[in-house]
Formats: sequence, structure tokens, C-alpha cells
Amino acid sequence: MTDLDTLERSLLEQIGQASDEAALETVRVSALGKKGAVSELLKTLGAMTPEERKERGPLINGLRDRVAATLGSRREALQAAALDARLASERIDVTLPLREAPEARGRIHPISQVIDEITAIFADMGFSVAEGPDVETDELNFTALNFPEGHPAREMHDTFFLAPDHLGRRKVLRTHTSPVQIRTMRAVEPPIRVIIPGRTYRHDSDQTHTPMFHQVEGLVIDRQANIANLKWVLETFARAFFEVESVGMRFRPSFFPFTEPSAEVDIQCSRKGGEIRFGEGTDWLEVLGCGMVHPNVLKNCGLDPDQFQGFAFGMGIDRLAMLKYGMPDLRPFFEADVRWLEHYGFRPLDVPSLVGGLTA
Ligand code: PHE
Repeated sequence: MTDLDTLERSLLEQIGQASDEAALETVRVSALGKKGAVSELLKTLGAMTPEERKERGPLINGLRDRVAATLGSRREALQAAALDARLASERIDVTLPLREAPEARGRIHPISQVIDEITAIFADMGFSVAEGPDVETDELNFTALNFPEGHPAREMHDTFFLAPDHLGRRKVLRTHTSPVQIRTMRAVEPPIRVIIPGRTYRHDSDQTHTPMFHQVEGLVIDRQANIANLKWVLETFARAFFEVESVGMRFRPSFFPFTEPSAEVDIQCSRKGGEIRFGEGTDWLEVLGCGMVHPNVLKNCGLDPDQFQGFAFGMGIDRLAMLKYGMPDLRPFFEADVRWLEHYGFRPLDVPSLVGGLTA
């Protein structure tokens, strides 16, 4: 056996044993690379006599060609095997059930849902949305709203009082969203049509009261806005919100320092077998307070009561949510229990709208 035979056998064996393309490349370099064994042999041809070359040339070239061909076919085989392995490992079973994405599992809190529903209804009537801070001055929460100093109406609110600020102004956790009426009238020119949803606070806690609760305020100011408009707005809202054809409403005379005349509004309902139905029956449920904005309030905001007038209303969002979705107790609203939220919550992609449906 010649040296060439030995070399060829060794190289072919190494090629056969190369288990991946990297190993194969190492064999190729050791044979056909610049300093490879076969390349070195080819270099010796130059120094040979013509006779020697005639004999050795075909042998060495033949060796090179066979090594190159074997390398090529081994590479193809290794590539095919690598592809097969990848296809096998990346195979997906399209018949497996889908895993729920986060947006399918998460739930919108009923309060957020109801705020979105209310906003959609009033937006359709041309109202915009305003907001104010939870920590409010005594002045905006009471004084500017025509609560006289020392008047018992201030105490009616079970106020949480806070330390005065650096200007000596007494702060409170706002007891209602009405101070944002003042902020709005002081900031923008009439005509004004806003709703103001937000958190409010009173020192009170039982099945239907929590120390923090939510209200939505409504305010309309222009030159003619009147009680008939107020009634229409509230009736239109109630029909849309409770998703019924008609809702009986009862306006009961009441008192608020910042409205005159003032009313509390009840809606008609029936309670049969523990289930509440709206717009029918012989029962009444109080849902909101309202009235014509008091001239003193307009004056406190720099508006001339002989030029401008309007109405305001305020309702409890939590209460509306309890009524509409049949939740018996208010306290779990704020306990952050995911089981409760899974039961009473709403799907995040079902955004309430008047065209798509409030409660899809
Ligand atoms: N702010 C009143 C309350 O919290 C509700 C209200 C708002 C009444 C606007 C009249 C007008 O009870």
C-alpha cells in the first residue's frame, strides 16, 4: 500500500466520522486547506522531473478529486440531517388548545366599566370630561359652593379634615365632586357641558357605604339652560344606562346649598324575588341629587347670574353599578379579591359604546 493510499484511507475515514459541519470543515482544512496534506503533495509536483510528474500527477490529482467529492457529499448529508432535526424539534401541534393571553384573562373593575358607560352616554349628548384633585381646599369643597361658615350642612358630609397647607388653608378629602364645578367655571367660559367622575370620601362604612366612593358630577352653564333640559338629560341618561325603553323618574324637592331649586331623583323599579328591574313597578330608588346652580355659586366663579344660568347633578357611581349589575354589597368593590373580580369584572376589549353596546 502506497503513502497515497494510506493518506486517502485516513482522510475518507475522518470524513465519514465528522458528525457535524464544523468537524467536517476541520477535516477539509487539514486535507485541502493551504497547508493541508493534499495541498502539500500537490506542491511537490513542481519540483519533479517530467517523467515523475506524469506518473505522480494523476495519482495526486485523483486523490484530491475523490477527497473533494467525498467532502461534498458528506456535507450534503450532514445538512439534510441538521434540517430534519430542526424540523422535528420545531414542530408545533396546531390542534393544541390556545393558551389565554393576558388581555383575555384580565378583568375591568365594575367601577371603571360604569365610568366608561356613563362617559359614553354623556359624550353622545355633547358633554366633555373634567377632573379635579382628591385633596381639596375647604374653600372649594364648601365655601365657594355656598355652604355658610359653621352651617350644619358642612357637618352632614362626615368630612375627613387634613392639616392646613403652607398658606394656612384648611384641606379636606373632597366629600363630593361638586368642587370641580367651581374649578371648571373659574377656568372656562360658558357654554359649559361637562361631567366629572372621581373619588370622594366620607367618614362612613356599612353595606352600602364605604369611606371612599365614586361620584359623577354634571354641570351645564349657558344663557338658557333650564329645568326642562335637566330633566331631559337625566331621563335620556337613565334610559341609556339601564338599557330600557322608558324609565319612570320622580323629582322630590330637596336641599343643597349650591343649587336652588334642588331635587333628589328616584327611578321607578320593581323588586320581585330579590331581583331589581328598572323602569317598571311600584318601588322607587334614589339615584341622584340635582338642581339649578345657585346664583351665589355663579357669582363665586365670576359669572353674572343675570347673564348665565345652568344646572348641576351628582350621582353615586358605586350605587349605579350595584343597581345595574345586581351586586348586593359595596364593600367587596374595594377588597381587590380576584375571585370577585373574575365574577363581576368585564372583558377589557369590550369597550362600552353606544353603537357597539354598553354591556356587550
Ligand atoms: N354634591 C351633592 C352630594 O354629594 C350632589 C349634587 C350635585 C346635588 C350637584 C346637586 C347638584 O350629595
